Order: sequence, then C-alpha cells, then structure tokens
Amino acid sequence: MKTYLVTGCAGFIGSNFVHYMLEKYAQIRLVNLDKLTYAGNLENLKDVEGDPRHIFVQGDICDKALVSDLITRYDPDYVINFAAESHVDRSIRNPEIFVESNVLGTVNLLQCCKDAWYNAEAKTWKEGKKYLQVSTDEVYGALGPEGYFTETTPLSPHSPYSSSKASADLFVMAFHDTYGMPVNITRCSNNYGPYQFPEKLIPLLINNAKQHKNLPVYGDGMQVRDWLYVMDHCKAIDMVASDGKVGEVYNVGGHNERPNIFIVKTVIAQLHDRLQDEGITEELITHVADRLGHDRRYGIDPTKIKNDLGWYPETPFEKGIVLTIDWYLANPEWMAHVTSGDYQKYYEQMYKNKEAHTRKAAARPRRAGRGGA
Ligand code: NAD
Ligand code: TYD
Repeated sequence: MKTYLVTGCAGFIGSNFVHYMLEKYAQIRLVNLDKLTYAGNLENLKDVEGDPRHIFVQGDICDKALVSDLITRYDPDYVINFAAESHVDRSIRNPEIFVESNVLGTVNLLQCCKDAWYNAEAKTWKEGKKYLQVSTDEVYGALGPEGYFTETTPLSPHSPYSSSKASADLFVMAFHDTYGMPVNITRCSNNYGPYQFPEKLIPLLINNAKQHKNLPVYGDGMQVRDWLYVMDHCKAIDMVASDGKVGEVYNVGGHNERPNIFIVKTVIAQLHDRLQDEGITEELITHVADRLGHDRRYGIDPTKIKNDLGWYPETPFEKGIVLTIDWYLANPEWMAHVTSGDYQKYYEQMYKNKEAHTRKAAARPRRAGRGGA
C-alpha cells in the first residue's frame, strides 16, 4: 500500500485528485495537508470525510516542524505538491504571498523530504520515494499564433504568479541536479471542472450568468487557453508519480485550445438552454480593461507524456463543459457558501477597478518579442 502526502488537497485540483485516487485505489493512504486559505474548502472533501484512507491536517507547507513531523510519522512514498496561491489577478495585486507559499513553501517541502530521505554520507536516497511538483504551462510565458510549449521551451514567465511557479520549478530541479533528489514536475494547461473557485473564468461565468450579472471579458477576449478537464490532469499526475522517469518534466494538455470569448459564449448557450432562461444571453458580455501583462496564448505539446507514459486526455471539451455545468447546477449551496463573505468584497474591488480603466488599458501597447501581441 502506498502513502501519499498531498498538499493543497482542499483546493480545486487537489480535492479532485483526492477523489480520483480514493476511487481508483482500494489500498491507499492519503495524508492531506492544507492551510485552508480562501481557496481551500473542506466542503470539497465532504463526501470522503470519514474515509479512513484519507487523513486531513490543517497547516502551512512553510511550517518546517509540521511538514517534518508528517513525513516522519507517515513515511510517505510520494509527496505531491498542489499547494499554491493560484490566481494571476491576485498575484498582480499582492505578489508577496505568492513568493511565500509558492517559492518558500516549495523549498521547505524539498528540504523536509531531503532531511528524511537523503543519506548525505553515502549520497543515497531511500528507495521508492518521489517528490512531484504540480506546475503550470504559464511558466513558459506566452505563445504567438503558432507553435506549442514543449518541455524544453525556455522558462519565460510574465506574471507574479507564473514567476513564483517558475522559481519553484527551478528549486525542484536544483534539488535533483545537486543532490540527486527523485523528482518530477508536471506542467499543465488550464483546468476546469467541479470545485473550482469562482475567481477563475469558467465558474465565475456560471455564477454570474445564473444571476444575470455582467460577464467580464478581459480586453478583446481573443486570448487562447488550452482547456483540460480536471480528472484528466489527476490521471496524468497519478501516472507521472508512479511511472515518470526521475528528474523529468512532463507537459500535460490536450490540444483543446479555445479563445476566451468562445468559452464565454459556450457557457451562455449551455445555461440558456439548460435553465430555459431567456435572461442568459450574449447581452451580458462586458468587455473590461485587460489584465496587465496578459499572456496571449498558451498551448501544450503533450507528445512526451503520451509516448512515454501512455497518457491522453479522455474528456473532449464538449463533454467536459457539460459535466462541469451539471456539477455547478447540482451544487448551488457550494457556490452560495464560497461566494458569501469575502468573495463579494474581492469581486467589487477587482472588477470595479477594471471597468474604470477600460479605455486606458485597451490603448496600452504590448512589449515586443514576448507574448503573442
Ligand atoms: P486552488 O487555489 O484552487 O487551491 C490551492 C490550495 O492550496 C488551497 O486549498 C489552499 O488552501 C492551499 N494552500 C495555499 N497556500 C498554502 C500553504 N502555504 N500551505 C498549505 N496549503 C496552501 O488551486 P488549484 O487550481 O487547485 O491549483 C493547484 C495547483 O495546480 C497549483 O500549484 C497550481 O499552480 C497548479 N495548476 C493549476 C492549474 C489550473 O488551471 N487551476 C493549471 C496548472 C497548474
Ligand atoms: P483564469 O481562469 O484566471 O486562468 P489563467 O489566468 O490562469 O489562464 O483566466 C482564464 C482566461 O480568462 C485568461 O485569459 C483571463 C480571462 N478572464 C476573463 O476574461 N475574465 C475574467 O473575469 C477572468 C477571471 C478571466
């Protein structure tokens, strides 16, 4: 039986991963660590509460004593790090917390694993251990209209969020290169699916459209993201943990590139038809000021993970978006809980400011040479 230390288990992808693993493996132990920031929510794990294979611990990945104690006590075979501040817009307003959790938190996890797994005299590592860093395609920067990110694309992050993730990736590789630490990095494209916090595009659109609120589209809405259904990402992480070659990076994505405006119109059409609601129309679309430094296009080349590990995305976007909308329509109380309190304040601050600056931002020239302006 394998033991996993899963950090960030109460967030969007982490909680889906917990569900995926408990569903897949009868014999497994998941030690789940989460600080429960605004994005972490124990409601995401409600239906596995009481399952003896899953142990929840509230705490910070920056807490050395706690992480060391968990590694000593449970002796995990795998440490899988999902924990991070994950929203680009928040990183533009407050980069410091991204450095703390995403960079210092990662370094702390690496150090704690090294303390527990490494014999410095013999320069050997305990058998069967692995650290897996869940990273993002955003570390590669932005693409023009052509081409894809491969694992050898140079890191060129633009936002404070992606810069913090790229820094963390560099530390992970440094631990591999310096000490021979058994690591993998996965770099995935945009995920969507159940339990995603409504600061991210798709759940935000669903929540707003249901209430006939404006649907904010940054800039011209022609930025392209490569959308992957979250369970396909979870499958990839499981495969990389078990079979990924030590020291390797694996890009995860499914050639599902869509401009944002297509996503917006799809959500509108779906909700209009499913709810038979004449108030959900494209009239709700509101173009607002563009995100600062907005990456124009992301696109993953998943050839390596397909060839080496046999991974492929099982869920086409047309199916995944229906599954996602089904879930949000079936769980209105989840949305009501996560949007009560601080969320309203966040929304007002973030979007009022954008509407006020719409014209000025639209006229701002982009830097040449980086990002597909
Ligand atoms: P999320 O914001 O929904 O969840 C992050 C979780 O981490 C939350 O539960 C939060 O409480 C926890 N957390 C934050 N700081 C912590 C700390 N210091 N200590 C312990 N727990 C902490 O994020 P997500 O969308 O689930 O993303 C998970 C990981 O996947 C992140 O590392 C992110 O960079 C990466 N990723 C996300 C996407 C995406 O589309 N969402 C795509 C590629 C990679
Ligand atoms: P997001 O879900 O924040 O993910 P990421 O920034 O990691 O790609 O945003 C997805 C895309 O949607 C991105 O190009 C920004 C855009 N966007 C909007 O147009 N309006 C919004 O209200 C949000 C949250 C995002």
